[in-house]
Amino acid sequence: MTSLFDSHQLGSLKLPNRVAMAPMTRARATTDGMPTASMATYYAQRATAGLLVSEGVQPSLQGQSNPYTPGLHSPEQAAAWRPVTDAVHTNGGRIFAQLMHGGRVAHPEVAGYVPVAPSAVRLDAELFTGPKGLLPAPVPRALSTAEAAAEARVFGEAARHAVDGGFDGVELHGANGYLIQQFLSTNVNRRTDAYGGPAAHRVRFAVEAAEAAVDAIGADRVGIRLSPGGTVWGMAEDDAPELYAALLDGLAALDLAYIHVLVGDDEDAMVALRKAWPNTFIANPGGQIGPRPTTHADAEHWLGLGADLVSFGRAYIANPDLVERLRTGAPLSEDDKTTWYQGGDTGYLDYPHHVPSAEPLPEAGAGAGAGAA
Ligand SMILES: Cc1cc2nc3c(=O)[nH]c(=O)nc-3n(C[C@H](O)[C@H](O)[C@H](O)COP(=O)(O)O)c2cc1C
Repeated sequence: MTSLFDSHQLGSLKLPNRVAMAPMTRARATTDGMPTASMATYYAQRATAGLLVSEGVQPSLQGQSNPYTPGLHSPEQAAAWRPVTDAVHTNGGRIFAQLMHGGRVAHPEVAGYVPVAPSAVRLDAELFTGPKGLLPAPVPRALSTAEAAAEARVFGEAARHAVDGGFDGVELHGANGYLIQQFLSTNVNRRTDAYGGPAAHRVRFAVEAAEAAVDAIGADRVGIRLSPGGTVWGMAEDDAPELYAALLDGLAALDLAYIHVLVGDDEDAMVALRKAWPNTFIANPGGQIGPRPTTHADAEHWLGLGADLVSFGRAYIANPDLVERLRTGAPLSEDDKTTWYQGGDTGYLDYPHHVPSAEPLPEAGAGAGAGAA
């Protein structure tokens, strides 16, 4: 049986183990989307993972969802990622950038753009916008057919910047209600052109975005994250089995390196996706920030069901040495939710490595007649 500590070949990369760090937004970049020295330290601390996936990175200002997140839409940003990727490589790790386009999950207060979406369907929620706090999501502008094609190509441009910035590859964010899943959905995609309607049309945007990234940097450096049937940020997929069968067909034809699946409640449906996918399958058992973080037992379960890698999110926030803790059975520290997005180094760089406790000292006076006077 495969162990978490066996190596795995991912495209041209040999991963020393099957533990992946799940992408996690930490909102520690500058206001103009530049990565910082603290981010280099954060990722380098976690470099023993088989694969690190970065926080969501906007491929364009139009695609920026949250404040204080980093970008990959200019040569300057690509260059600013170098110290991060170099620090990871120096520590022996590998890192993919997660390209996250928010679509309608965005607000003009953050980057100055009216959000775009497949259709002008408003998200019924408030979004954190920075200094002005929570504001209602606005009605997004529906992309024209030509604009949808152009928006998919943005993922190719960002993939090129990612490799220029030293990343080993990119993961397209096709999960959790952002632009790619908005096109996949049956409720936010109300289009009647080639990007809407039947499942075979609704997968077009995802496949074109993946194709743009493949054309830019090669299929062995491109993966995609998916949340089949997921409902985060108001998503509905009324035909998920048919939809994901069509999507995997389209992505397999591109020979994409991996799919990274947020595991939902329907285990059989997930196993069917595993069987349908020819390349690397990464499972994230914690799914959509479930009630408890992914555990070692979840990971073993999913390796047993055929996953090649298992990703851990929250456990990686609090345990930079997660691989070693899993290997030795050392206890895991708990993350502090209040510091997830608060900025600064507290709750970011200060989670310590596990220190095995020293052998207990023999009790004074132990041993026959010891010290007896
Ligand atoms: C603070 C935080 C930020 C997250 N940001 C992202 C993100 O940028 N992109 C993404 O795909 N998932 C994101 N997620 C979801 C995680 O990748 C993961 O799917 C989730 O935490 C469940 O896995 P776990 O139980 O191992 O934590 C985030 C989760 C957390 C806790």
